[in-house]
Amino acid sequence: MKEFQDKVAVVTGAASGMGFAFARRFAQEGMRVVLADVESEALGSAVSTLRQEELEVIGVLGNVAQLEDVQELAQKTLESFGRVDVLCNNAGVAGDLDFIGQRNQPLWEQTPELWDWTFGVNVRGVLNGIRTFLPIMIDQDDPGHVVNTASMAGLLGGQTAGIYGATKHGVVRITEALYFQLLERESKIHASVLCPGIINTRIFSSGRNRPDKFWKANEKPSDNDTQSQIDAGDEYFAHGLPPAQVAEQVLEAIRDEQFWILTPDVPLDRIQQRHNHIIEQTNPELSPPFLPNR
Ligand SMILES: NC(=O)c1ccc[n+]([C@@H]2O[C@H](COP(=O)([O-])OP(=O)(O)OC[C@H]3O[C@@H](n4cnc5c(N)ncnc54)[C@H](O)[C@@H]3O)[C@@H](O)[C@H]2O)c1
Repeated sequence: MKEFQDKVAVVTGAASGMGFAFARRFAQEGMRVVLADVESEALGSAVSTLRQEELEVIGVLGNVAQLEDVQELAQKTLESFGRVDVLCNNAGVAGDLDFIGQRNQPLWEQTPELWDWTFGVNVRGVLNGIRTFLPIMIDQDDPGHVVNTASMAGLLGGQTAGIYGATKHGVVRITEALYFQLLERESKIHASVLCPGIINTRIFSSGRNRPDKFWKANEKPSDNDTQSQIDAGDEYFAHGLPPAQVAEQVLEAIRDEQFWILTPDVPLDRIQQRHNHIIEQTNPELSPPFLPNR
């Protein structure tokens, strides 16, 4: 896609972090942008911040894990702006990366509730976006682009965040399939997978959006615990790259029809090592946790 003026973008998870940065950058480029999010207050203030900057945006509240919410998002987008040119399936939660509650527990101690919540948002959310918006975008018969946010956790192995990593490996594979299926049909729609390293967002405190039914009884931490864990998580991620830098990369990747989008901090040596082990069929070794810019 080369032209952005007056085109329409839908960004999920746009009330915070990278999604908010994408929305702002797209709107600065002349696009009309739909900010979709499950967090009502944050969504309201994101929309009013961008409107104060005289950018053309609307907000739609909803949960990407629910197909009917995503269908309503599409309907509201078409009612307001009449079309969809860019879709960013970006909403995501940290699952077992989360400081709130579960951090560093082995897989066999993780609750089915945590699995369901994390897969619901991170994988089902992306599938709901594809299922709902691709037919609309294909019917328009104009150039368009889908960006799915995975993670470096979708390219690496390692001992931490097995659930989160599984969802992000899923997003990588889903986006590869989408890319090839569009290519095979000589579609004007292109696809990219975004694999960020560590970005300064509120991802570690994503337990704030975890519905009660996805907490096992007695597992939910007290407000005091929650706050101290949020502070620790935010502190860790504050050393990450700024979301605006990722937004710039995403815009360029859409322009250049670039499939893989890795932020510059992603440890390529670790990806290489993992692939070497696969090709040589040698056993992986334990590696120290990846720390941002320290
Ligand atoms: N921050 C990082 O270091 C990092 C690294 C790699 C990948 N990611 C991925 O980037 C994406 C964006 O996260 P972020 O880092 O900007 O975090 P963030 O928490 O700042 O933003 C995520 C947004 O998604 C929204 N959201 C959560 N559940 C939702 C749901 N069910 N439906 C709709 N919206 C929902 C949240 O309310 C929030 O506004 C996620 O997919 C995340 O997994 C983040």
